[in-house]
Amino acid sequence: MNIDKTFFIPQTYGIKYVGSKLKIIPYIISLLSELNDVKSILDGFSGTTRVSQALAQLGYHVTSNDISVWSEIVANCFLKSTMTDSFYQEILDHLNSLTGYDGWYTENYGINLIHRKRPFKSKNTRKLDAIRDEIECLNLSWIDKSVILTSLIFALDKVDNTLGHYVAYLSKCSPRSNKDLFLEVPKRFSTNHINHNVVKDDIFKTVSNNSYDFVYYDPPYGSNNDKMPPSRVRYAAYYHIWTTIIKHDKPKIFGKANRRIDTKDVVASSIFEEFRKANDGNFIALNALDELIQKTNSKYILLSYSSGGRATKKELKSIINKSGRLLKAIEVNYKKNVMANMRWTNDWINSDSKYLEYLFLMEKN
Ligand SMILES: C[S@@+](CC[C@H](N)C(=O)[O-])C[C@H]1O[C@@H](n2cnc3c(N)ncnc32)[C@H](O)[C@@H]1O
Repeated sequence: MNIDKTFFIPQTYGIKYVGSKLKIIPYIISLLSELNDVKSILDGFSGTTRVSQALAQLGYHVTSNDISVWSEIVANCFLKSTMTDSFYQEILDHLNSLTGYDGWYTENYGINLIHRKRPFKSKNTRKLDAIRDEIECLNLSWIDKSVILTSLIFALDKVDNTLGHYVAYLSKCSPRSNKDLFLEVPKRFSTNHINHNVVKDDIFKTVSNNSYDFVYYDPPYGSNNDKMPPSRVRYAAYYHIWTTIIKHDKPKIFGKANRRIDTKDVVASSIFEEFRKANDGNFIALNALDELIQKTNSKYILLSYSSGGRATKKELKSIINKSGRLLKAIEVNYKKNVMANMRWTNDWINSDSKYLEYLFLMEKN
């Protein structure tokens, strides 16, 4: 089944991000188009916020929620900022014109003769040092600062020397790391005067006092590869650099990747990133998903699942059936740009294909 090309698929913007759902936005929109009683949507694990951005452009009232501070600032930029492009351009012109210097970022993240496996060329960390210090002096509101920080993060993402995360860096520099850091105004869209919500919180807290017409859940499912160290699938560890740049707190760092000390493996940042099993033999993360779906106050819940995750078909089926009924399940091969309707009896889970995503649309009891 090919995706209907007549849908308007809005343009969205984001950093390289493990688990980004950029490629499946058309399928989410296609599923939503079949429901005519949806106005308010919660994007519960919004990450890059690309799904939130797309749905906001389609006129839904969006709540973008994620536990990560980088997700909050990008969501603020696209869903909450109101000043004109020229207002931000003037600030960015000033920041782009600064002369770089050796500061904390260059010391810890700049490639030099001794440290070759680092995420950025020193010419760019020097600029980062100057720009980031200066942003603190500008007295911006949190929303306007979010736009400027989003611009900085997007610019750094274009000149990085990584494979898309910050737990290890390339020894042979990527061609894009040679480019010069340059800040641009993020391409925002009209929010049609809708007052969208941006929340940086644990999803359980966010759903505890609110109700929505439709909720999209894309939690971190971990990996079914038991040899993978748990910290590797933790977002706070993967993207520690963005937390540091946003907070500008020059934290204590450790290890070869110079991660923030608060992203050490012993610190579980989210129950959905727990890799251990509970006493009942189920994965703690899946029990959490079960509880979350039960507690969610929404008519529809759309659940994302990627091939290679930890859950089994039986587990997901039981979680969905406990709280409601499955309306539709689709398998998306985003490489081939096709989707197929699926039944539980299909052989689907833990497939070797890297390009499969599953979407489960359920209606709550
Ligand atoms: C698979 S990613 C979501 C990707 C997103 N749909 C996108 O397209 O970019 C999972 C996200 O869940 C967030 N997260 C993990 N635990 C959370 C929690 N307890 N509450 C809210 N967000 C959480 C992580 O920060 C991460 O951004």
